[in-house]
Amino acid sequence: TAGGTLYDRIGPEALADLVARFYSLVAQDPDLAPIFPADLTETAEKQLAFLTGFLGGPPLYHERYGHPRLRARHMPHVITPTRGRAWLACMNAALRATPSISQANAQEFYAALTRVAAQMVNTPESGP
Ligand code: HEM
Repeated sequence: TAGGTLYDRIGPEALADLVARFYSLVAQDPDLAPIFPADLTETAEKQLAFLTGFLGGPPLYHERYGHPRLRARHMPHVITPTRGRAWLACMNAALRATPSISQANAQEFYAALTRVAAQMVNTPESGP
């Protein structure tokens, strides 16, 4: 279905499935796992609340936690371009593994996330 916000088109159940799948991939990713907590329950809850508002649904993150200030909240974590790509790769894989999200909606969602992910990168690549 074409009309409405991405949130209307994707729906709360598919979004919750996506977020759960995403963090199970993050937990297994060698670049990402070291900077995330071992227990991802609260992280996933916050992300689901954030993405709900980000996609045009109710502003759950704002209501529960205040202004997200996402770039500032990510500053304590070392986020290199490699980690930015790994985050997006996990999200892309999670989107593709969620058949209730159509390909068109997945592409629109992913494009929006690539712009936010670029803003979270706060450290140049290390090493030689
Ligand atoms: C929190 C990493 C991109 C939204 C976090 C945390 C880490 C992290 C380590 C803290 C987890 C915790 O302690 O609970 C990354 C990396 C990214 C990235 C490596 C790669 C670019 C994004 C993007 C978004 C996002 C693109 C939004 C679309 C959030 C939210 C939280 C969070 C909402 C929870 C903030 C809070 O504690 O209230 N992220 N992130 N992140 N991230 Fe990211």
